[in-house]
Amino acid sequence: MGIADSTLSLAQSRLGVAAPFLIEQDWNAYTPEQHAVWAELVSRRMPQLREHACQEYLDGFEQIGLREDRLPDLKSVSARLLPRTGWQSTPVSGFLPPDAFFEMLAARMFPTTTWLRSRDSMEYTPEPDIFHDVFGHVPMHAHPVFGDFLEHYGKICAGLMADPVALERMGRLFWFTVEFGLIRQDGQIKVYGSGLISSHGECTRVLAGGCEIKDFDLDAVLDQKFDTGAMQPVLYAVESFDQIYEATKQAEGRLV
Ligand SMILES: [Fe+2]
Repeated sequence: MGIADSTLSLAQSRLGVAAPFLIEQDWNAYTPEQHAVWAELVSRRMPQLREHACQEYLDGFEQIGLREDRLPDLKSVSARLLPRTGWQSTPVSGFLPPDAFFEMLAARMFPTTTWLRSRDSMEYTPEPDIFHDVFGHVPMHAHPVFGDFLEHYGKICAGLMADPVALERMGRLFWFTVEFGLIRQDGQIKVYGSGLISSHGECTRVLAGGCEIKDFDLDAVLDQKFDTGAMQPVLYAVESFDQIYEATKQAEGRLV
């Protein structure tokens, strides 16, 4: 058994329903064209994000060693994340069923796709790719409070698998924080949700006032329906990451 095999089987041994979805990332198989697409995606996003992403995202980007010129090696990303927050960026074969997804969050293993969009779909992919997953999500996992929140969120949802109504409401909490969250910092609206971090078009529209921004309110978020395929008409801004962690605990008290 090689080093790569033992990493995979060690990760699998910690999981139940999610274990069959784990794969190795074959980093050496990425082509120069794919590295070039990654570089173009990153260089297109960074000028706006340096100005409008929350500081925790920008710090996390540096801390996990993301580079503009090449696709990330998930093992080295995880090697930098683990000592900070206990999180890992764990390669998976594709879209996970909810029970497997929540099991991995509860284990601080972020399910990470390894495929990259092609040049003809630079702006949008219906399913997440490595750009959305790593560039969009993983830098925030270097932040201790955000990391604690996300693990706790996974644990709560893993316990709600028999309650589809509660699970749908918790899905809205995820959507309006992890995927499309905004935060007020220094009197300005900053982005931290992966869908905004990784999408130039949607982020530009939100920053230009193209969607209503409400103060985060747990009840409103749990009731707010959303359409995954459309631009978002309303988003929510938190004051701090402690606020979403506290809101998640409150939601747990009501739903579980
Ligand atoms: Fe996402």
